[in-house]
Amino acid sequence: MCGIVGATAQRNVAPIILTGLSRLEYRGYDSAGICTLENDEFNCLKTTSKVATLINKVKERGCKGFLGIAHTRWATHGIPSETNAHPHICGNLALVHNGIIENFKELKAKLQEKGYVFKSETDTEVLLCLIHYHQQDSNSLKEALLKALNEVTGSYAIALINKSEPGVLYTARSGSPLVIGLGIGENFVASDVLALLPVTRRFIYLDEQEVAIVTTDKIDVCGLDGKEHIKKAQDADLDAESISKGSFDHFMQKEIFEQPSSLRNTLTERLDDDSVRLETVIGLKKDSFKDLQNIQIVACGTSFHAGLVGKYWFEELTHIPCNVDIASEYRYRHAVVGNNSLFITISQSGETADTLASLRLAKTQGYKNSLCICNVNGSSLVRESDFTLLTRAGAEIGVASTKAFTTQLLSLLMLALIIAEQKGSLTAQKRHELIESIRQLPSLCEKFLSKDKDILALASEFADKHHCLFLGRGVMYPIALEGALKLKEISYIHAEGYAAGELKHGPIALIDRNMPVVVVAPDNALMGKLVSNIEEVRARGGKLYIFNSEEHVLKADTQTKVISLSDCPEILQPILFTIPLQLLAYHCAVINGTDVDQPRNLAKSVTVE
Ligand code: M6R
Repeated sequence: MCGIVGATAQRNVAPIILTGLSRLEYRGYDSAGICTLENDEFNCLKTTSKVATLINKVKERGCKGFLGIAHTRWATHGIPSETNAHPHICGNLALVHNGIIENFKELKAKLQEKGYVFKSETDTEVLLCLIHYHQQDSNSLKEALLKALNEVTGSYAIALINKSEPGVLYTARSGSPLVIGLGIGENFVASDVLALLPVTRRFIYLDEQEVAIVTTDKIDVCGLDGKEHIKKAQDADLDAESISKGSFDHFMQKEIFEQPSSLRNTLTERLDDDSVRLETVIGLKKDSFKDLQNIQIVACGTSFHAGLVGKYWFEELTHIPCNVDIASEYRYRHAVVGNNSLFITISQSGETADTLASLRLAKTQGYKNSLCICNVNGSSLVRESDFTLLTRAGAEIGVASTKAFTTQLLSLLMLALIIAEQKGSLTAQKRHELIESIRQLPSLCEKFLSKDKDILALASEFADKHHCLFLGRGVMYPIALEGALKLKEISYIHAEGYAAGELKHGPIALIDRNMPVVVVAPDNALMGKLVSNIEEVRARGGKLYIFNSEEHVLKADTQTKVISLSDCPEILQPILFTIPLQLLAYHCAVINGTDVDQPRNLAKSVTVE
């Protein structure tokens, strides 16, 4: 979603903030803009096209200065247009904003009564005018900003500049992420660290409801009450190269092929002979899970699918009942919390608004502990959870989650083994066997990736389809859901995932020779049942695409294509059988000519509700 970059320096900041903005493109946006302070005047340029167009505009028309802010906007209030694009300007102030000001209508009406005229349809301009209005009864911009922020409800991350304070960048956050990058004689702000890695690796993470006044040599942070907060700087564990495509055509393709190494990283120094090391989960103690009786998982999208797989594993390996909810549902239902319950959130970004809101709600509901499985150290979920298991997938730039998902699955499996050990639900021998299987994961992942050419051939048959069903049984059912999500989000082919046993309860009505049916069919205990479901499709003329294990090859015929994949331990099947589905979605998207890494209407990090 929206991206913010700002800088104050003793050199022209335009190239720095435009580079930062390009590095935030992955978050998803529909317009972009920049504003610098040049000879005591604002110079503001905008586009409803890509950041590259904004960069060209800056080259053609000139835009420079020692102080500047820039923004990529993902429309919430008002269509994507140059008028609605940020930065917004009101008198001596220019503002960029991520998030949603929920009481903007009431505030707008009040400001209109006081004579303010609004140019855009945005809630951002309302916040800006409110700050401007409070300047009249304040001794400083800081005071006016605090008054305004105490009046708004909703979420925000902002960067604000003032014509009469040439070296000063004001910034604040509540509900939307914001980091401050520390340079030498220059400082920066951005929505995430990736934007600033070319200029610094040292960051201060703003916490909820904090305001920072950033100059070239000083960072002053305070709360919304104006009281000073002491902050510590941290070094980022990513480098600038994390967001290069290398020799790949797309970030998604690179990230799919990075999975052997991301899975290897997830495992590094975490496995012993018959146990997963305790320090794998930050904050955990030897007996943290000894009395655990219930597990509740909450997540969105692909991370929710990981949670669904986690349910099968937790119940099988730890014998603890596990519930899984979509975060936007959990936060508005009246969940009944059992005794000794663990609340688990799963998120690539650690900033997903609904997941974060669910965690905050859970903290009031009587859970014993919270744990997050997350790819971004320092994110809001990590900072607000009792325990953290970092997935270590590395920066994921493609909007479609790939390596984040498989490392989430691996993390859930490791967590299940930790809980099983503390609960005594698995023998040391059984844990040893599972750990030996897990050790094979990175090399098996390479074998699954080696089927890329076969899957490309399959995709060329597939890409012109308008609809598709994905079927799986047991723990492969969430993988069918994930396969369908991947295909629809990047190729725009309508796809639905079903538990294969549900077919005859409705979806079978859709089957005819124009309906491709993808079946995730590894060799496991439910194979016999799945074969019956496959026959139900075959009998109705459906076209079948079966992802199968070499060990148990199903018969191909004119109606049925079979892609046989390496044999693998049953426990790893959900992770490994995800890979051909990612490749299928990727190749279909490329053939259909869609924007693979930034599909229409989607944002990488969904920081608004
Ligand atoms: O950052 P999160 O894992 O919390 O994000 C959740 C979803 O928005 C995300 O998984 C989304 O569904 C992806 N685009 C799927 O590929």
